[in-house]
Amino acid sequence: MYETFEELEKAIEGCKKCKLANGRTNIVFGTGNKEADVMLIGEGPGADEDRLGEPFVGKAGKLMNMAFEGLGISREKVYIANIVKCRPPQNRNPEDDEALACLDYLRNQVILVKPKIIVLLGSVALKNILGKEYGITASRGNWVDRKGIYYMPTWHPAALLRDEDKKIEFWKDLKEVKKKASELGIEL
Ligand code: URA
Repeated sequence: MYETFEELEKAIEGCKKCKLANGRTNIVFGTGNKEADVMLIGEGPGADEDRLGEPFVGKAGKLMNMAFEGLGISREKVYIANIVKCRPPQNRNPEDDEALACLDYLRNQVILVKPKIIVLLGSVALKNILGKEYGITASRGNWVDRKGIYYMPTWHPAALLRDEDKKIEFWKDLKEVKKKASELGIEL
């Protein structure tokens, strides 16, 4: 456990804890407000993220940004990270050993950011954070209150690109996040 972001980022440099290290261009550590009350967790970098070293800068990220803008959520006020910090080949789901190898970094990020709300973007984030018994279809839109953090599972933004109904549900879930944030006195 590292006490500061600087130490943590230094520790992750050149990481070779799993096989994803072999194919990466950049480690995608995380971005946003390091003191955010709201954190979003995705799955892993895609091609654009790998190239630029920042999460959610590709197609899915643009869609998420549009929802943020529509709901008046500022990307600068939240913190965004992923389950794995290196791109899986052909954008496949991270395998269990890869997620496990990377999870300590994410846990450390959560401890440093101290968010009150965590939005879990898609099944991989949901299962790795709350447990394998959770399914995204049944869980999305429903708050899970665990150890003083409110978790909101929702669709992964990439899923919205293929399904209009999911877009509406994603929007609804983020609206819930906005409402809870406001109840907790958090400005987004
Ligand atoms: N999908 C993710 O899960 N994370 C990213 O950073 C980009 C796409």
